[in-house]
Amino acid sequence: MQRVTLKDKTFVPYISSDKISASVYQMAQKINSDLLNDMPLFLVVLNGSFMFASDLLKEINIPCELSFIKLASYHGTTSTGVVTEMIGLTEEIKGRTVVIVEDIVDTGVTLEKLVTLLTKKEVKQIKVATFLLKPDAYKKDIKVDYVGMEIPNDFVVGYGLDYDGLGRNMKEVFVLDSK
Ligand code: IMP
Repeated sequence: MQRVTLKDKTFVPYISSDKISASVYQMAQKINSDLLNDMPLFLVVLNGSFMFASDLLKEINIPCELSFIKLASYHGTTSTGVVTEMIGLTEEIKGRTVVIVEDIVDTGVTLEKLVTLLTKKEVKQIKVATFLLKPDAYKKDIKVDYVGMEIPNDFVVGYGLDYDGLGRNMKEVFVLDSK
């Protein structure tokens, strides 16, 4: 793997394709056995999760469904200011087992908003699957059920993750060069 420059920043190789594949495969096996009888709905959070979700779902061999959502934030008229809305969900999810598929959980703010929105829809249970988790940054109580890899509090790109819109297409993960 070569160093890559995206706009004003340089990134160095961090997680190889082989390591990514192995961790995704292991996660899929665990989900296959845990949710065998649940007919889960995988809820893929765009944009960052598209590559991870594609690889993960290829290894899922239990009956399941798949849907893609986006979180949209805007300044509403409520006293709390910013309102977060989930867009793209057309399936009826009441009473379902929903697996949130995330690229990365950092502080957990995004995850918490999503879980709040799903809870209002009376799902049966929510499971969380993330490719990457930054445990030192994660401040929430929501259980992250499936974690591909834990990483330090560094900024990474590739495998769906972007820096200012760039780098999502890279098939390996790069980390910001500290030099
Ligand atoms: P959180 O709400 O702090 O958990 O952050 C969630 C979102 O921030 C992720 O879905 C990513 O879009 C973005 N993010 C957090 N850390 C990184 C990173 O290291 N690289 C790229 N995006 C990141």
